[in-house]
Amino acid sequence: MNPDRTDPRATSRRAPSTVLVTGGAGFIGSHACVELLDHGYELIVVDDYSNSAPQVYARVERVAGRFVGAVYELDVRDRRALSAVFDRHAVDAVVHFAARKAVGESTRMPVEYYDTNVGGTTALLSVMQAHGVNQLVFSSSCSLYGDAGGGPLDESTPARPTNPYAASKCLCEQILADVCRRNPEFAVLCLRYFNPTGAHPSGLLGESPHGTPDNLMPYVAQVATGRRKRLPVFGDDYPTPDGTAIRDYLHVMDTVEAHRVALDHFADGPGMRVFNLGVGRGSSVLDVISAFAEASGNPVPYDIVGRRPGDVPELVADASAVARSWGWRPTRDLAAMCRDSWRFQQLNPDGYAGSARRPSTEE
Ligand code: UD1
Repeated sequence: MNPDRTDPRATSRRAPSTVLVTGGAGFIGSHACVELLDHGYELIVVDDYSNSAPQVYARVERVAGRFVGAVYELDVRDRRALSAVFDRHAVDAVVHFAARKAVGESTRMPVEYYDTNVGGTTALLSVMQAHGVNQLVFSSSCSLYGDAGGGPLDESTPARPTNPYAASKCLCEQILADVCRRNPEFAVLCLRYFNPTGAHPSGLLGESPHGTPDNLMPYVAQVATGRRKRLPVFGDDYPTPDGTAIRDYLHVMDTVEAHRVALDHFADGPGMRVFNLGVGRGSSVLDVISAFAEASGNPVPYDIVGRRPGDVPELVADASAVARSWGWRPTRDLAAMCRDSWRFQQLNPDGYAGSARRPSTEE
């Protein structure tokens, strides 16, 4: 335990200045690191690089103009390794991004999804509690609403997950609510993302998945550059105006700004608060294809194929609660998401492969 953390209650409402970011090398995590560095936070980053690369830190430092801080290669399920990080640093709050996130893959690998997403969260919680760290921003997902029907969904919509990825996020939320009930000092700010996409406007940071992209925007970007021939469109027989599925796409820069704002709101008190993060506007797969073609000036050839297991026709946010409570509102539209994704794709046709690497703290 940290020497200055002997009484958990003494530190529980301390305004966060040192933040541990799990999955900080990933897509949203790396953008969040820039946002938090820009706002003066000290960071400790842990990542296992299962869907990310340590090369990203040099980019984060270039964009932020600051040293990232301590960086550890570890899997959050490794309690011993995680505990050693908490022993070494006086962590005020944790932002937990580390998770598996592909809907289709989750239907093929349910055990791995529960293990990483639920097991990672319980390991993190046990280490946080042992070290008297009581402030957590948790990455949840709109996917837990399942097939809730059309129209904007607010946070009171009952959870009805349709795939193991969504179910894993739903279970994590239940666990977090139980922890808050048990520990009256614990504060969880649970952010249910709709579909974060786009890239940093510098073109230095973006979505760089290993292998074939699971998510729509990086796949579209790779088709627009010619790296992949054609986009598979998963179903055109949904009950939507053009038959393709509708999502609420949210710029990653807006997404990470919400996390920075969240850190100011631990001061509101303990307990669990849940907010949707979305724009409140739906776009179909065909809308995204045409917006990307417009932004890039390149065609995006596609084939209509069968529906992807676990997908639902429409998910659009009612994000008015977070606007009312915290004043956070997204400011960037689909055209900006496509423009920024395209810039990243053009400047980094092979993602982060081959770019400079900065050493890990433990090396
Ligand atoms: C899912 C989750 C979302 C989560 C995100 C994390 C659901 C309903 N949503 O988003 O909460 O934040 O993963 O990554 O579980 N598509 C194609 N062709 C492709 C890829 C995708 O047509 O090659 C379609 C999908 O069928 C879907 C849309 O594009 O209709 C968006 O897909 P994707 O980017 O994978 O995100 P979601 O599955 O909506």
